[in-house]
Amino acid sequence: MPFPQHRPRRMRRTEALRSLVRETTLAPQHLVWPLFVLPGTKVRNPVKSMPGVFQLSVDELVAEVQQGFEAGVRSVILFGIPEHKDPQGTEAYADDGIVPQAIRALKERVPGMVVMTDVCMCEYTDHGHCGILKASKAGGPGNELQVDNDLTLPLLAKEALAHARAGADIVAPSDMMDGRVAAIRAELDGAGYQDVPILSYAAKFAGAFYGPFRDAAESAPVEGPGIPKDRKGYQMDPANWREALREVELDVAEGADMIMVKPAVPYLDIVRQVRDRFDLPTAAYHVSGEYAMIKAAAERGWIDEDRVVLETLLCCRRAGADLVLTYYAKHAAQLLSGKKR
Ligand code: PBG
Repeated sequence: MPFPQHRPRRMRRTEALRSLVRETTLAPQHLVWPLFVLPGTKVRNPVKSMPGVFQLSVDELVAEVQQGFEAGVRSVILFGIPEHKDPQGTEAYADDGIVPQAIRALKERVPGMVVMTDVCMCEYTDHGHCGILKASKAGGPGNELQVDNDLTLPLLAKEALAHARAGADIVAPSDMMDGRVAAIRAELDGAGYQDVPILSYAAKFAGAFYGPFRDAAESAPVEGPGIPKDRKGYQMDPANWREALREVELDVAEGADMIMVKPAVPYLDIVRQVRDRFDLPTAAYHVSGEYAMIKAAAERGWIDEDRVVLETLLCCRRAGADLVLTYYAKHAAQLLSGKKR
């Protein structure tokens, strides 16, 4: 029997050798931590479908973000749960809304933290859709309501501006309206906020992985006459990869500074192609359903949570993500910095 000519195992013998040839790194600064903020004080509501995740009042949010900062997390993304919802999502663009309040508190109390904000209407509209509902003229009369693209754009732009005015470092539109990056860029520039970058949720798919988030953000579409029951009329079809590249291309052309693919793990083929094709910083969003699946299996003792989390996030990096948005950010940062809980 001949000896093998090639022995990749030689470089795997010890941890020192393995780390010498490791191609991908994962560090706390690669993580972005999504957090949910709501009115009140001393509020810490557990999210049932996301163990370890809470809806937080601003005071609790500040404490939580301080802990994340100590573990090495350097950026958060905020989602607001407003006091009041209406068809126009009025609180989304209020200067004294819950997200602007949270931004101001974080900028004052944790100044080293990059504060991103999710820009979308679904948490603020009483119907739970990501924009203004109106019957489409296409296909003749009697159609069900649709999220009207062009009626929604100015509201998203106002929302982004309210966040920028409050001190947001980065605004991140997640609504999937056509032309929103350009609309937000123009609004920000017109008000003197030309230095605020846009992280575009460029390729966001209408899948089944956002269920737990909609519990956390209280943003599921409501049932009602004519109200679309899902977001398939604006988020992407999970079957499409060419269209994902087209979506990214458009957002880059409109002036996005960073681009995102969402969800992460089932869509790592998209992450890889986006990274190869475009030179902007690329993010992958490890979404609520992905988080919940790891939690559920770990709670049953079926997987080693810490190892699965680090492997998952590393694989997102290997696929080409510069940044990974994850509810595990604090936990993973603690593991990575040796400050395990
Ligand atoms: C807002 C938004 C959603 C998520 C991020 N921004 C919900 C949705 O599109 O229904 C989902 C994040 C997650 O599931 O973790 N549009």
